Amino acid sequence: MTKAITFTINGKQKTVAPHPDQKLLDVIREDLGLTGTKRGCDNSTCGACTVVLNGKAVKSCRTTMEKAEGAEIYTIEGLAKEGKLHPIQKAMSETGAIQCGFCTPGIVMELYALLNSTPEAEEKVILNALSKHLCRCTGYEAIQDGALLAQKLVQENKIRK
Ligand code: FES
Ligand code: FES
Repeated sequence: MTKAITFTINGKQKTVAPHPDQKLLDVIREDLGLTGTKRGCDNSTCGACTVVLNGKAVKSCRTTMEKAEGAEIYTIEGLAKEGKLHPIQKAMSETGAIQCGFCTPGIVMELYALLNSTPEAEEKVILNALSKHLCRCTGYEAIQDGALLAQKLVQENKIRK
């Protein structure tokens, strides 16, 4: 029998009964309809599926549903508030870091986890976090600029979760 799993996602409590083969990405996209989280490689390489689970950036394509039990999860849909972009989204947009946009939600969630836990993160730590993400449009310079601007905006806005 399928075991029910309860967690909060973007501040809302959900209970699902996933198929044993379903990973967190499958549940997020197929069961909850939150398609902002992208499926790229499906093997933990590209970072497109990154979400925040208990404050940490995780690749949801390889995250088992057991790990979601009781967890607090955020996806890209949980960031904008009252129609206003989160400062990280704003920074990525302002620096032209978004081309096709496929890699963007994963990168934004990676930065969200990092800048919430370590707002003063050194540049090399930020660049290391970005290195977990592939952008097939190869806009890496703009993405790096966006990440550094995001840190500045987050610090100015004193965003904390
Ligand atoms: Fe998960 Fe590529 S889809 S890392
Ligand atoms: Fe197209 Fe990165 S903007 S994959």
